[in-house]
Amino acid sequence: MKKVTIIGNGNMAFAIAKGLKNKFEIEVAGRDIEKLKKFKENLKADINYYLLEGFDITDKEVIFAVKPNNLDEVSSKLSGSAKVVYSVMAGVSIERLKEKFDTSIVRVMPNMAATISKSMTTLTGDETFKESAVEIFNCIGKTLWLGSQKELDIATALAGSGPAYLALVAEALTDGAVKQGLKREDAKILTQGLFEGFGEILKTTHPAILKDNVMSPGGTTAAGYAALEENKTRDGFIKAIETAYKRAKELS
Ligand SMILES: NC(=O)c1ccc[n+]([C@@H]2O[C@H](COP(=O)([O-])OP(=O)(O)OC[C@H]3O[C@@H](n4cnc5c(N)ncnc54)[C@H](OP(=O)(O)O)[C@@H]3O)[C@@H](O)[C@H]2O)c1
Repeated sequence: MKKVTIIGNGNMAFAIAKGLKNKFEIEVAGRDIEKLKKFKENLKADINYYLLEGFDITDKEVIFAVKPNNLDEVSSKLSGSAKVVYSVMAGVSIERLKEKFDTSIVRVMPNMAATISKSMTTLTGDETFKESAVEIFNCIGKTLWLGSQKELDIATALAGSGPAYLALVAEALTDGAVKQGLKREDAKILTQGLFEGFGEILKTTHPAILKDNVMSPGGTTAAGYAALEENKTRDGFIKAIETAYKRAKELS
């Protein structure tokens, strides 16, 4: 079994370890032995765990999963040179990672659905490790390798921040139904079902075709859709991606 080393024992590290545990040998390094012990218990897998101080990463495939502002502190505690570093830190460039790790770097951007092994993860970096990276991160959902960091930053604005935008849509639609008199619990059930069915159909149908198929002349959907256009909803989403991408660039 191939070994993967995870640095960090937070939410993303746990989601990744959960996806990997049946296919890879896992070891984890963190700063708090009690938290590491809990990590292992919650994971229900036979993993080794270590404290960060002096932890040797020589020739290891390392997933770096601490917060971006802990990069300097955590990297300075490690010893040796890894075979490759897969960084999941949002907005930390390959150039900056190279200053800390003199080895191959792959940037990885999972999203919150990693917790249920349904992440839409984008990756970019050293092509030598493309196959290996895809094999690892396919364990937490789907992966898409991109050709540049610019594309990764745009993808972060879409797939990384996307769950928050869709949460706004879900909440607003539910509130709209409640405003018209539907019970909150019923509106919630309807919205959940709507997203589930829609997600499946979207896999095979273009959104424009999907919209055309449910919009009959002079009907309810046409009326509701016109209200969305009047309120510049489409423009709002396009601007959201633009602004999030700008912010991703600023951060990196
Ligand atoms: N969560 C997401 O949906 C998501 C999506 C994409 C990318 N990411 C990226 O994943 C990374 C981890 O995020 P997360 O959500 O897992 O965060 P988290 O749950 O807060 O975990 C952060 C980890 O960093 C450790 N840490 C914090 N300060 C430290 C220090 N000074 N020295 C050593 N270790 C330190 C924490 O250790 P303790 O437990 O001991 O505090 C913990 O293991 C971030 O870089 C984030 O950008 C997250």
